[in-house]
Amino acid sequence: MKVEEFDALIVGGGLSGLRVAIELVDTMNVAIISKVYPLRSHSGAAQGGINAALGNTEAGKNDSPKTHAYDTVYGSDYLADQDAVMVLAKEAPKIVIELESMGAPFSRLDSGLIAQRPFGGAGFPRTCYAGDRTGHALLHTVYEQCIRKGVKFFDEFFLVDLIKVGNCIAGLVALDIASGELVVFRSESVVLATGGFGRIYKRSTNAIINTGDGLGAAFRAGVPMQDCEFVQFHPTTLFGTNILITEGARGEGGYLFNKNKERFMNKVAPKAMELAPRDIVARAIDTEILEGRGFDDSYVHLDLTHLGKEKIMERLPGIRDISMYFAGVDPIEKPIPVQPGQHYSMGGIASKYKGDFGETPLDGLYSIGETSCISVHGANRLGGNSLLETIVFGRYVGKAIFKKESRRKLKSFEIKNAEEAALKAIEKTFTSWNKNKGKKPADIRMAMKTTMDKNVGVFREEARLHQTTIDLQNVQKDFKSMHIETDDRKFNFGFVRALELRNMVDIAEVTAFAALWRKESRGAHFRTDYPTRNDKEFQVHSLVTKKNGELIMETKPVTLGIFEVKERAY
Ligand code: FUM
Repeated sequence: MKVEEFDALIVGGGLSGLRVAIELVDTMNVAIISKVYPLRSHSGAAQGGINAALGNTEAGKNDSPKTHAYDTVYGSDYLADQDAVMVLAKEAPKIVIELESMGAPFSRLDSGLIAQRPFGGAGFPRTCYAGDRTGHALLHTVYEQCIRKGVKFFDEFFLVDLIKVGNCIAGLVALDIASGELVVFRSESVVLATGGFGRIYKRSTNAIINTGDGLGAAFRAGVPMQDCEFVQFHPTTLFGTNILITEGARGEGGYLFNKNKERFMNKVAPKAMELAPRDIVARAIDTEILEGRGFDDSYVHLDLTHLGKEKIMERLPGIRDISMYFAGVDPIEKPIPVQPGQHYSMGGIASKYKGDFGETPLDGLYSIGETSCISVHGANRLGGNSLLETIVFGRYVGKAIFKKESRRKLKSFEIKNAEEAALKAIEKTFTSWNKNKGKKPADIRMAMKTTMDKNVGVFREEARLHQTTIDLQNVQKDFKSMHIETDDRKFNFGFVRALELRNMVDIAEVTAFAALWRKESRGAHFRTDYPTRNDKEFQVHSLVTKKNGELIMETKPVTLGIFEVKERAY
């Protein structure tokens, strides 16, 4: 058995994981395990920006962290925990300045200050950006700092399962994809920062690596999944491929039109128009399409032509490239065809249990970023708050790990037994997937995605959600008899895809189960059979676990605060 040992282990080489490592590397023996080379992490796909109430522009000079917090709570449809939101908004200016001092190449105003653009649901232009490649710029900046500080990386290592003793984390098993070897990583602090699970849907802006690996592993270890019914559908994804077309395009002044040339956002958000929050814009677009006012019954137009060549080339060069390469449309001349697509998961691993943000109910296990539900986004995330969350809580969790008392009291024979049992279980799974005569992972994956797209999308209702829970039970059955072809261990991507699918199917089931349970409409979760918000019964977080093969729903109260609960209108 190959064993590596660290004071703290971070799974995921995106912004969240990198930021925890920076916090710890000077004082602890820390390593990052990443399924892909870290610069290929999905953080790099974030386009539009990172929010902070810097007040750098004339229009934004009266902005404040309190207003940022208010917009976030209001946008969340009062499901966000207000204590977590306060931390997010207060830390934001500090975090952006920290990134600037690390060398992040933010776009600038003529004054030299960091430029800020308007984003959906925000009272002021608050979103700091690097053209339309902000995530890419930040990922490179923070990764450089990790390299400078000597963080140890295990690239192309796949998290297979967590190892626990009683209710304490003891480490994990990872697959070294190149050699095919299973490696035990021993540690008393493990941080899951593996990103989201968007690939349970077909139409998604997510990278194919976003398969909910951290969530799946935590769920199998008995940790509750929180608020997974709240899936964000980004309003503007490119028709055909669903590549993200940043909200920054609307922030810079882009308009949405239906086929009758109507700016239809005036029907649902007459003040905010295209800059209403994503849940509202996505529903408005899907309504136009469903009611026959879309193009080819599939998309609407995002028109940037009036912005002019200079602005598009300066602020939205990536969007121009994407539109030209993948849709054959130059946005300087023609509107971009867009439709809503899965983009982000507000829910995730329950990660605020005992005081410290990021702590899960399993002692020593933390989660952050899209993997987690801390919960700062509630039922609907505002654009620009996710990059922010990665850095704010990455730093926070690093500090929490540093100050945590050691649990080295775990007996070494218990740890060894748990490690051996975990390895044995994985070997058994691998052998049975080889021997089985059932379906291939790709076919099972497609069945899961099809039912999720069809029934757990922007609009939901009882019968269709129920159908998906049945479809997913069948998917689980097929999964049990799944066949993978090659038994060679080196670069066996059949094995990797199968392990990813195991995570995705579990989390898809949680998502559909929670969406069926939540009989109200709130934020991104819209039930046509329960079209209003029901605070009396449902202003609670959902917590899903599996016991004896059955999904169990429990709830926990939302942490309220200074912002009074009211109806949303934009
Ligand atoms: O539209 C966007 O640029 C996405 C930003 C975000 O998800 O925060």
